[in-house]
Amino acid sequence: MITIIFLCALLAAAPALHLSEKDESQFKSWMTQYNRVYNEEEYYKRLQIFTENKRRIEKHNEGNHSFTMSLNQFSDMTFGEFKKTYLWSEPQNCSATRGNYRSSNKLLPDSVDWRKKGNYVTDVKNQGNCGSCWTFSTTGCLESVTAIATGKLVPLSEQQLVDCAQDFNNHGCNGGLPSQAFEYIMYNKGLMTEADYPYRAYEGSCVYQPEHAAAFVKEVMNITAYDEAGLEDSVATRNPVSFAFEVTSDFMSYDQGVYTSTECHNTTDKVNHAVLAVGYGQENGTSYWIVKNSWSSHWGMNGYFLIERGKNMCGLAACASFPVV
Ligand SMILES: *[C@@H]1O[C@H](CO)[C@@H](O)[C@H](O)[C@H]1NC(C)=O
Ligand SMILES: *[C@@H]1O[C@H](CO)[C@@H](O)[C@H](O)[C@H]1NC(C)=O
Ligand SMILES: *[C@@H]1O[C@H](CO)[C@@H](O)[C@H](O)[C@H]1NC(C)=O
Ligand SMILES: *[C@@H]1O[C@H](CO)[C@@H](O)[C@H](O)[C@H]1NC(C)=O
Ligand SMILES: *[C@@H]1O[C@H](CO)[C@@H](O)[C@H](O)[C@H]1NC(C)=O
Repeated sequence: MITIIFLCALLAAAPALHLSEKDESQFKSWMTQYNRVYNEEEYYKRLQIFTENKRRIEKHNEGNHSFTMSLNQFSDMTFGEFKKTYLWSEPQNCSATRGNYRSSNKLLPDSVDWRKKGNYVTDVKNQGNCGSCWTFSTTGCLESVTAIATGKLVPLSEQQLVDCAQDFNNHGCNGGLPSQAFEYIMYNKGLMTEADYPYRAYEGSCVYQPEHAAAFVKEVMNITAYDEAGLEDSVATRNPVSFAFEVTSDFMSYDQGVYTSTECHNTTDKVNHAVLAVGYGQENGTSYWIVKNSWSSHWGMNGYFLIERGKNMCGLAACASFPVV
C-alpha cells in the first residue's frame, strides 16, 4: 500500500517533458543572466516552463516566419502568468467609433522613423511587474509631441498616471487607456517629469504637485476605430501615436523581424496592451509599424518591435490616439 502511494506521488511530480542536461545548463545560464534565485520546488517548476518556452522558440525559428523568437526576461513564465502580470485582464473602453482626427490628405512618405528625425523619442523604459503599459504609451507619446513642439525632450511621469488618473476610467496597475490618460492630463492641467515623480511600479496615493507640472495637453485626438490609414497619416504628418493591440502567447518571446500572428484577434474588446508607434516602413515585401514597447531595452529589438502594417494586425488600429499640446 505504502509503495503504491509513494509511486503515485512520484508519477504526479514527474515532469511532462523529457529534460536533457543541455536544457538544465541553458536554464542555469539564463538564471544567472536574469538574476533569478528559486527554492528547490520552484526551481523544477520554472525549469519545466523554461524548457517548454525554449522548445517553442526553437520550433518557431526552424520555420519560415517573418520574425524570430528568443529567450528573454519572461522565459520562466507561462503565458497565463505573463498575461496576469503585464496585460489588461479586462477589456478597456477603447472604441472611438468616430474619432475627431481628420486625415491631412497629404501624400505620405514610404517610411517614417521619428527616432531618426531628431531628438524626439526618449529611451525605452520598463514597466516592471505592473499592468501600467498604458502610462508608458501615454508618456512616450506626450514626450515626443512636446519635444516636436518645444525642441526639449523630457521624460515624463508614469507614476502620476498610475496614482492619480482613476477618475478617467484608468486603473493603475490593472489597465487604462492612453486616450483617457491624455484626458486626465488635459483636465488636471499637467503632468510632472519622471525625475520629480519617479516610477515605482505599484499603485500609491496621488502626490501630484501642480507647481511642478512640466507637460500639458490642449486637446485629445482619437483616430476612428480600425482606420489604419488614419494612423499612418497621423504618424507621418504629426508625431508618434499611442495605440493598443492584442498580445498573445507568440508575442512574449518576440526577438526581431516583422511580427504577424494567427493567434490574435482584430477587435476592440480583445486589445490588452498599449504601446507607441514611432514610424513605419517596408522590407522584404512586408509593410510594418516600428513600435516602442515598455519591457526594457533588453526585450525585442532594443526594446522595439515591428508588426505587420495594413491588416489591422491584432486590432492595432482599434484605439489609437495622441495629444495636441
Ligand atoms: C518563406 O516565406 C516567404 C514569404 O512567405 C516566401 O516568399 C519564401 O519562398 C519562403 N521560403 C521557403 C524556403 O519556404
Ligand atoms: C467603461 O466605461 C464605463 C462607463 O463610463 C465604466 O463604468 C467602466 O468602468 C469602464 N470600463 C473600464 C474597464 O474602464
Ligand atoms: C477620445 O476618447 C476618449 C476615451 O477613450 C473619450 O473620453 C474622449 O471623449 C474622446 N475624445 C474625442 C474628442 O472624441
Ligand atoms: C529582411 O530579410 C533579411 C534577410 O533575410 C533580414 O536580415 C532582415 O531582418 C529582414 N527585414 C525585416 C524587416 O524583417
Ligand atoms: C477582422 O478580421 C476578419 C477576418 O479576417 C475580417 O473579415 C474583418 O474585416 C477584420 N475586421 C477589422 C475591423 O479589421
